[in-house]
Amino acid sequence: MDKCVLAYSGGLDTSVAVQWIAEKYGVEIIAVAVDVGEEKNYEAIRQKALQVGAVESIVVDARQEFFDEYLTRAIAANLMYEGRYPAFTALARPLLAKKQAEIALERGAKYLAHGCTGKGNDQVRFEVAYAALAPGTAVIAPAREWGMTREQEIDYAEAHGIPVPVGKASPYSTDTNLWGRSIECGQIEDPSLEGPADAWQWTVDPAAAPDEPAYVKITFERGVPVALDGKTLPGAELVATLNQLGGAHGVGRIDMVENRLVGIKSRELYEAPAATILLEAHRDLEALTLDRETTHFKAHLELRYSELVYYGLWFTPLREAIDAFMADTQKRVSGEVTVKLFKGRAQAVARESERSLYDFALATYDEGDIFDPSDSPGFIHLWGLPAKITARVDREAK
Ligand code: ARG
Repeated sequence: MDKCVLAYSGGLDTSVAVQWIAEKYGVEIIAVAVDVGEEKNYEAIRQKALQVGAVESIVVDARQEFFDEYLTRAIAANLMYEGRYPAFTALARPLLAKKQAEIALERGAKYLAHGCTGKGNDQVRFEVAYAALAPGTAVIAPAREWGMTREQEIDYAEAHGIPVPVGKASPYSTDTNLWGRSIECGQIEDPSLEGPADAWQWTVDPAAAPDEPAYVKITFERGVPVALDGKTLPGAELVATLNQLGGAHGVGRIDMVENRLVGIKSRELYEAPAATILLEAHRDLEALTLDRETTHFKAHLELRYSELVYYGLWFTPLREAIDAFMADTQKRVSGEVTVKLFKGRAQAVARESERSLYDFALATYDEGDIFDPSDSPGFIHLWGLPAKITARVDREAK
């Protein structure tokens, strides 16, 4: 029998998908759940896939790989889609797809499947990655194909012995990994209303955050965060710790209307304490250690990079080439940044580096100043020469 490798989450949609695909396509289902830092019981998820009819069920712990191969690059590129969204879902999808594709190639599977709807960005990210990594396989997207309403899906589940979550279902649709948590649907779909209080789970309301600030010192080596308050931590743990710390101070709430790849605008709530803190610290350290021209040029590529990642183009030569540029810039980005967490804000307040380009003797207005102001008039004369000549010619042409 042909095989299909399904990205499995343990939720209702992908559980229904196991049976729906098996029936409709006459295939065996291999379920794959990838742990990218959503704190769930993965052994229970593995069991559940078998219980609902998968012939094989695999859990991959990819937390550290997610940090090493994806989050470090996001940090180097100060990745924020449209200036605000740290793109955590967009970063995780290629990794999920990669794990699926590897298993599909090993098992000789004919199909790859995911539970995304036909309206979002995630279907694009999965399928572009499948196309790049397992070009011989075909895609099945059950939630895009079956046309069932929520009620019909529940009826289908009950008729097929698939456990249906009891109690009132949450009005929200969420996605979670190490780098953040997204919340959509329900009242959030009305952008004229403030996001409902019960949507937030990782962060306290900034108004209710502690009255005393907290300080955290982050050590970077070549752009990679490696220690908190002097204590070296594996990346995945460092990020999880900052999510806790930042969340307790209400840091990292994001409320935005964003442009989806599929052409529509959507209103999104995000919680991303660690991403907010680390990007603030990283940008601050770059300000200290990178020269002006590199910093300004890098900003152009950062914008392009954020689009590439959001648009599902992870496995492409341009992404790799921009990464190579970013990696080169990070050679100098080592040092320590202290970030103050207070009432929803994360602010870099102190920084040090052996590679610091800040020269006290050049910067000071006090004693010890070595900057020679008599260099300035000549510099300004030449700098302004084109403006002066153009203005003169314009005047004479009138
Ligand atoms: N809008 C964000 C993005 O496109 C978040 C998507 C969350 N995905 C989900 N299936 N709930 O990256």
